[in-house]
Amino acid sequence: MRNIVLMGPPGAGKGTQAGDLASRYHIPHISTGDMFREAIKNKTPLGQKAEAIIARGDLVPDDVTVALVKERLSQPDCAEGYLLDGFPRTIPQAEALDEIGKAIGRAVNAVIDITVPEEILIDRIGGRRVCPKCGASYHVRNMKPKVEGKCDVCGSDLITRKDDNAESFKVRLDNYYRQTAPVSDFYKNKGLLHTFDGTGGKEKLQGVLFAFLDRLS
Ligand code: AP5
Ligand code: MG
Repeated sequence: MRNIVLMGPPGAGKGTQAGDLASRYHIPHISTGDMFREAIKNKTPLGQKAEAIIARGDLVPDDVTVALVKERLSQPDCAEGYLLDGFPRTIPQAEALDEIGKAIGRAVNAVIDITVPEEILIDRIGGRRVCPKCGASYHVRNMKPKVEGKCDVCGSDLITRKDDNAESFKVRLDNYYRQTAPVSDFYKNKGLLHTFDGTGGKEKLQGVLFAFLDRLS
């Protein structure tokens, strides 16, 4: 069973790795960031609540985020496991996930923490371009699309995320250090934390993560 949490600061490469991991292990990729962006695009009440918070780099309140994840994890496609990306990112969220895991009989059994130094994160966030349709992520130098400005997967025009500016990034990083880094310790104390160097290329980290997760049963 692979009930996995993917952690790391903004720009660590969570989203870049998650799609291939989810396909390899036939588990859903559940990104709270993607779910909020979808809600914003569709102008739902959740999207209206989250839009300004996300644009400035702050965290959406715990009760809203926990309710979203609780509902998602109860879906049938999570029966064989799940890959959470960007959740939990506060201690109350981690405690809530413990409860949800117990209730659905699928407690987290591995936490992957991707570490990348700040100066590399700044460069990655500054150069990131994303597909608004399928969520694929690129970089203007490190991970270029085949055709400039177009998504390799679905051909849509690539955009820059609203929170990928210097000001919001500073807030996101600050929130990460203050609120999310303690979540790593939370899982370390449970013996579930596995730390990986995210500074190599996409394929290098992917190989290491496949090797680790292939052994997890
Ligand atoms: P979210 O969407 O989760 O954003 P984030 O955590 O800030 O992380 P990013 O998506 O920016 O980084 P990533 O690690 O996925 O990097 P990527 O793979 O794209 O959350 C957004 C917002 O939603 C939050 O700020 C908050 O407001 C709200 N939210 C979400 N979850 C929440 C929660 N649980 N509670 C409360 N609020 C929540 O890679 C980045 C760039 O680097 C790309 O350009 C990529 O091409 C490049 N790259 C990736 N890997 C490599 C590599 N190995 N080598 C070279 N380049 C690479
Ligand atoms: Mg992401």
